[in-house]
Amino acid sequence: MSYDPSRPDVIADPYPAFRLLQAQDPAHWSGILRGWVVTRYADVKTALHDRRLSSDRITPFVAHESVRGCPHVQELGRIAGRWVVFNDPPAHTRLRGLINTVFTSRAVERLRPRIHEIVDELLAQVTDRGTMDVIGDFAYRLPVIVIAEMLGVPPEGREQMKAWSDELALFIGSALGTPDKYERAARGMADMCTYFREVVGARRRQPREDLISALVDAEQQGGQLSEEELVATCVLLLFAGHETTTNLIGNGLLSLLRHPDALAALRADPSLIGPAVEELLRYDGPTQAQVRVALDDIVLHGKTIRAGDRVFVMVNAANRDPARFDEPDRLDLTRADNAHVAFGYGAHFCVGAPLARLEGQVAIAAAVRRLPGLALAPGELTWLPSMVFRGVRSLPVMFRPFARTSRL
Ligand code: HEM
Repeated sequence: MSYDPSRPDVIADPYPAFRLLQAQDPAHWSGILRGWVVTRYADVKTALHDRRLSSDRITPFVAHESVRGCPHVQELGRIAGRWVVFNDPPAHTRLRGLINTVFTSRAVERLRPRIHEIVDELLAQVTDRGTMDVIGDFAYRLPVIVIAEMLGVPPEGREQMKAWSDELALFIGSALGTPDKYERAARGMADMCTYFREVVGARRRQPREDLISALVDAEQQGGQLSEEELVATCVLLLFAGHETTTNLIGNGLLSLLRHPDALAALRADPSLIGPAVEELLRYDGPTQAQVRVALDDIVLHGKTIRAGDRVFVMVNAANRDPARFDEPDRLDLTRADNAHVAFGYGAHFCVGAPLARLEGQVAIAAAVRRLPGLALAPGELTWLPSMVFRGVRSLPVMFRPFARTSRL
């Protein structure tokens, strides 16, 4: 069977194609992607902790003849190659250990009141308008404010951060059809590194109550990290901390608006928000695929994945596998046994999961509660043309306008 992830109907709704792949060709060679596509839940979990599948897709990518002579790609590779997410043990273990010491559930939980405050401020700006773009006015803005504050980036630096990070997404998100994407991404990366290099230096001289000071401190306690690894980690946290969370809030609200019964149930019982966010992550999560590179020949469903081949591990497909989830295409906010893999699985399981969950819960609950009559505005949705991220460019909604109120 053929699977074309660049087809507009597949970008808008990839799930029918995933179901066919699961049933007919669970280890699918895609000529278009020049890689294997793995879609079954059991295979996805196995792949995500299989040591024969490397997370270092940067080294082979920058060595490829099509980009070998491109200085922008080489520079991007040099820095992204230091990101925990693109490393295998032992470097992965070392980098991850450092992040784990500062990115704890306790550190995240301390942010709860501040996240409520930011959500309130953002919603207060639209409540009397009766319309908003969920992405531009809300979901796009919350995560970057939160992670920037965590990292200690002052408010005046945030817009710039967001702009740099959007450029960087052109590289990481495999944006299809953007000709100057590497040049723009390299510029965003270089500017962010310069910025963080200065902040790291400043925190070394004078620590504050922020994540960068904590990273610097952990590194000084014997974390064995180079200055450049520290700077690259700051860029990663800033970057990883918002694109996906934006799409959790965007996709989550879109799924609820397309399922009025679920929306009504959540409105009637706000205590559902915890399991609701898990179900929204399962139903239409922000990450479509994790890419791995085979280090050895691996046989899967009778096919041989050769050493050096790329493997697209499709977490969103796994989350709709009928072999694992009853009625997988049904949005069920009270679903029991919801072991989705939206945050990955195994050693690379998302560091930011507690933060993403908290932001998603506060944001979605507040939007549902505070915007009466919330409904989709008419019009077509444009989905991001990406194999990695899943989300819409904008999500116009309507609701009954009302004067500003304080937090409920
Ligand atoms: C809903 C939002 C999010 C989703 C769906 C998500 C998803 C993921 C997934 C699937 C992975 C595994 C990557 C792999 O196996 O190669 C991952 C790793 C990671 N995520 Fe997230 N993420 C989210 C939010 C965040 C946030 C808020 C942060 C930090 C501020 C973050 C930081 C990271 C980091 C640093 C890794 C690398 C972990 C490692 O390689 O050991 N993520 N994320």
